[in-house]
Amino acid sequence: MRILHVSSECAPWAKTGGLGDVVGALPSALGRAARGVDAAVVLPYYRAAKQALAKRNLSPRDTGVVADVQLGPATARVRFLRLDQPGRAPTLFAACDSAFDRDGIYGHEDDVLRFILLSKAVVGVGAQLMGGPIDILHAHDWHTALIPGLVATHARGLHPRARTVLTLHNLVYQGVCSKDLLPLTGLPWDVFHLDAFEWYDHLGLLKGGIALADAVTTVSPTYAREIKTPEFGAKLDGFLRRQRIHGLLNGVDVEEWDPATDPHLAAHYDAEHLDGKRAVRADLLRICDWPELPEVPLLGVVSRMTVQKGLDLVAALAPELYGLPARLVVLGTGGPRLEDSFRLAARHYSHNVRTEIAFDVPLSHKIIAGCDALLVPSRFEPCGLTQMYAMRCGTVPIVHATGGLADTVRDPGDERLARGEGTGFAFEHPTAAGLRWALGRAVRMYRAQPEGWRAIQRAGMQRDWSWTRSAAEYLRLYRALGR
Ligand code: ADP
Ligand code: GLC
Repeated sequence: MRILHVSSECAPWAKTGGLGDVVGALPSALGRAARGVDAAVVLPYYRAAKQALAKRNLSPRDTGVVADVQLGPATARVRFLRLDQPGRAPTLFAACDSAFDRDGIYGHEDDVLRFILLSKAVVGVGAQLMGGPIDILHAHDWHTALIPGLVATHARGLHPRARTVLTLHNLVYQGVCSKDLLPLTGLPWDVFHLDAFEWYDHLGLLKGGIALADAVTTVSPTYAREIKTPEFGAKLDGFLRRQRIHGLLNGVDVEEWDPATDPHLAAHYDAEHLDGKRAVRADLLRICDWPELPEVPLLGVVSRMTVQKGLDLVAALAPELYGLPARLVVLGTGGPRLEDSFRLAARHYSHNVRTEIAFDVPLSHKIIAGCDALLVPSRFEPCGLTQMYAMRCGTVPIVHATGGLADTVRDPGDERLARGEGTGFAFEHPTAAGLRWALGRAVRMYRAQPEGWRAIQRAGMQRDWSWTRSAAEYLRLYRALGR
């Protein structure tokens, strides 16, 4: 079975969030899951990807495959490079310097055009890249959501047996743009209607992809249900209620996130030997320039700073943390307002709050493994990965029970938690009061019941967070589509 994933991100070459992690891991996990599965992934050859490759002394080879893509009166040439690494699905880079050799992955005025270019190029030459007819063309988020539309309308001849899958990692970003761009996509006007690519008289790339893909998935079962409601549906809930959406929970890269071997950590440990975690915590305290206070829990946040992530709730609690026996380390980037409020909190409450405004992968590992608890108070969360990384590292997650957070963090109440029957603390309402309540429970348990706390740590560490289960579910879906 030939499976081609197409995405705007793929770790470690290009990543701004969990999409990069998922696309960096899933194709390789599919290849391992069954014999005869030939999976690969395509992403743009961004400047950031070139730099990440150079840092590792790797150079992808030229495949000789070229796509000449018509975008209105202009033609853009996309060359494809390929990187093979042992044990990993091949990575294909779509190179077109005028579109992709720029600083930053997103945030350019012509982002829509850049990803239309990527999608058209891959549809044009995908079979050549895979060395034969593709069975599954798997697109991710709005950036590549044009692909199912192209295959369903005019590219059938190029992909006689391909089924298309679109995964929604975040419904909020929909690739909405002027309908004047429709002729550039290669789509016919007859898909510009309310049940396909029309979004309030605009072109909605994600919406059209949902309508025309052979299967639509999202990254947790709870989010698959939530997006059919007005609260979470980002104005598409009515349309989504008429669609079948499969909720397939993400896994995590258990090699990258393994406290027994993680090169970013000052010491190593596992569920049976938690001692090393104390040394990792001490290292983080040293970075924060804080004294060791074993009875004061260390809380962490590693997150994009957007409304989605509910970090304003954390910022609102900063003054209270000053009175609570707890300290907070925040790592994130995003909206200037939130960034400022955390900078300010760190200045005012320097005994309790540290803020690092940066995208820093090594530090993210030190915080996620070094803290006692990780706060993930997201208003909505399609899946969320950091809470799983935390559990894998014996760090107890404190989460809003929504989307994938609800599907991965089990909170059966304090008594049962202390018996090792749960993996974290969850609150029902995304308000400062909700977070305060869960935080209070966690701090009390940490201070008064250290054995109970360790039971929660162990329960989280012992669960299987690997991609094996999810990869098997994706394969089952692919096979069902082929019938
Ligand atoms: P989302 O994709 O919505 O941002 P996820 O939890 O799925 O949320 O994934 C976030 C990913 O980005 C995780 O790998 C997390 O560790 C990483 N991350 C987020 N913010 C930072 C940061 N400031 N520095 C390093 N890594 C970060
Ligand atoms: C998105 C979502 C996040 C999810 C990630 C990977 O960025 O916001 O919840 O974990 O995609 O699927």
